[in-house]
Amino acid sequence: MSNKMWGGRFESAPDAIMEEINASIGFDYRFAAQDIRGSRAHVAMLAKAGIVSPEDAAAIDSGLEQVGREIEAGTFTFSRALEDIHMNVESRLSELKGPNAGRLHTARSRNDQVALDFRLWIRDAIDSLDQQLKGLQWALAERAEVFAGAVMPGFTHLQSAQPVTLGHHLLAYVEMLGRDRGRFADARRRLNECPLGAAALAGTSFPIDREMTAKSLGFDRPTANSLDSVSDRDFVLETLSAAAICAVHLSRFAEEFVLWTTPQFGFVSLSDKFTTGSSIMPQKRNPDAAELVRGKSGRIIGALNGLLIVMKGLPLAYSKDMQEDKEGSFDAIHSLSLCIAAMTGMIGDFTPDLERMHAAAGSGYATATDLADWLVRTLGLPFRQAHHATGAIVKLASDRKIGLEDLSLADMQTVEPRITTAVFEVLGVENSVASRASYGGTAPNNVRAQARRWLERLTAET
Ligand code: ARG
Repeated sequence: MSNKMWGGRFESAPDAIMEEINASIGFDYRFAAQDIRGSRAHVAMLAKAGIVSPEDAAAIDSGLEQVGREIEAGTFTFSRALEDIHMNVESRLSELKGPNAGRLHTARSRNDQVALDFRLWIRDAIDSLDQQLKGLQWALAERAEVFAGAVMPGFTHLQSAQPVTLGHHLLAYVEMLGRDRGRFADARRRLNECPLGAAALAGTSFPIDREMTAKSLGFDRPTANSLDSVSDRDFVLETLSAAAICAVHLSRFAEEFVLWTTPQFGFVSLSDKFTTGSSIMPQKRNPDAAELVRGKSGRIIGALNGLLIVMKGLPLAYSKDMQEDKEGSFDAIHSLSLCIAAMTGMIGDFTPDLERMHAAAGSGYATATDLADWLVRTLGLPFRQAHHATGAIVKLASDRKIGLEDLSLADMQTVEPRITTAVFEVLGVENSVASRASYGGTAPNNVRAQARRWLERLTAET
């Protein structure tokens, strides 16, 4: 049997392999709701513009509604021979309503149809990711407020650098997620133009009202160039790129959980809810959820990379290559959503070992900078000279395998005779963090205020 959509000049059915490589229904069935929504808006416009009769439009509309119900109820039979969601829906519509259902496809093409469906789908995906990201920010800010003064080591090069607080560290991720949400919002703003009516590539000779369909589908305006409308996938690329950056943030955080939950760090523990055991080593508690958040960033970055490569050589306008835009995107959005959910779960779940973090914060001469700053502030040494003197004092302590605060005043005075006992105040980690009260710094008061600012800001969001 030749194809019923374009059987006019085709005499025989496609080869089995042709059908297999060509069909997208196996994945674009996910567009069912968007496809039906778009078609209903289209037929309402066709009727208003006098392009189809009100009776035909009403029959088409009720038919589309029924197809939607069948798909939702799981009673719809998808057919691979009908290639994609667009033709599956239209074919069922004509079964239900007869030949006049064929009027629905006036003044449009699958090219603008799929561009519309994907925009609608991506727009929904962005909205739901945004809500999830907001939830994660909230969970982080809440715990940051609680741990605003909990001292832990801050690292550079993964070497103990200066003490910070756990709240400060958690809030760093709230900032990153805020930028991620901003990037998704930017993508959403730009994608919110309606390609419907661009038809195959050149527009249409029918007197359609593109403003009307754009408006009824929640778009700001119709797209302005028909060639661009059907060949543009920037809205997917931008969204995937925001997703990839977000996934990288989550992956870095996950990596920290992996490190922090090792017995060697022992900074935090995760409960049975977010860990697994080993089938052979009874002592193990593995942070699999964190590892998978880290691992899944690979496929999300891969989806972006994959689609960039699909698009890079395509002449205008539509080419079938573009059907390859979907699977990676569905997978990436689903994976990111899962990663955000898992991370949110772990943030609510983890228990920090505050004593251990505190002890680690003081080790590795993490208050050496405080000593150098003290020499500058109190004795008026130039910073470079203070740095040098501090280095000599650290060497003294490290040769004896003791902490800076364990050196005697006399020991320190062998390096810099003007040092007084007041120096011991800055060698404690609490004083160290409290002193970093510059805007954006780790002082507990700062951190508390920032956590509250975020909680208020998130509450105020509509
Ligand atoms: N299934 C197709 C896709 O996803 C729909 C558009 C088909 N257009 C065409 N000219 N064959 O890209």
